[in-house]
Amino acid sequence: MKEVLVGQRKLQVCDVGEGIPLLLVHGFPLDHSMWQHQILGLKDHCRVIAPDLFGFGKSESFGRADGKLTMAEMADDLAVVLEQLSVSGPVVFCGLSMGGYIGWQFYCRHRERLGRLIMCDTRAAADSEDVARGRLMMAQKTIASGPADLVEPMISRLFSPITMTTQLDVVAATRDVMLNTDPRSIAAALRGMAERDSAEELLEDLDVPTMFICGKDDSITTLEEMQTLADRTSGASFVAVEDAGHLAPLENPLVVNDAIKAFIA
Ligand code: MLT
Repeated sequence: MKEVLVGQRKLQVCDVGEGIPLLLVHGFPLDHSMWQHQILGLKDHCRVIAPDLFGFGKSESFGRADGKLTMAEMADDLAVVLEQLSVSGPVVFCGLSMGGYIGWQFYCRHRERLGRLIMCDTRAAADSEDVARGRLMMAQKTIASGPADLVEPMISRLFSPITMTTQLDVVAATRDVMLNTDPRSIAAALRGMAERDSAEELLEDLDVPTMFICGKDDSITTLEEMQTLADRTSGASFVAVEDAGHLAPLENPLVVNDAIKAFIA
């Protein structure tokens, strides 16, 4: 991992391989390790850049209990990371779930840095009022009593039933990452997600080659929801991944890596 300074923030970034830059942006509340199979399997095909977002993984924690990390702010951080790593050409942006929400902002704010877009297990719609209210309550609860109340119900929704029974090590490692995330960072990202704008109006005129990837058993961003996104996006391709839930790149990496290789080629 390399340390990259984004203003005052210290971010840790995995940067391996050469060629077309592939920026892998993790979901919530995870870190770059959810891309471990893409880092290993794609580093001989392209330059893989997988940061821990501010507040997550080995990057510096978010310092305040009452703060907010917006999707726009995180997209701007990523543009600085690319600059600091001297990445000059356009990147392939690949985001999962919250990483996808950040991807819409990256498209809006840093279009010139974007060559292709890969959206994994994510959505374009904003939160409903109920969902946003739930996130704000969970932010308070996490600050008061730690991440366990968020993590335990979430963990079974992240994976397909088959992963839950056959990849116990993957489930355990993911749980550890989530439980070790600073409650202040979790709360800040929850507040940021709660107030994010809808990106639905972008879809029809999206002027960047786009691929959507979704685990067939994803219960958070369902196959139907993502298929609809792909249908609404001109020229987009869609890949449905067998034996995978919300964390398709971690659960069935061979299918996801082949899809990414083909899309980049
Ligand atoms: C994620 O995986 O990043 C989360 O499910 C995003 C969300 O809570 O909307």
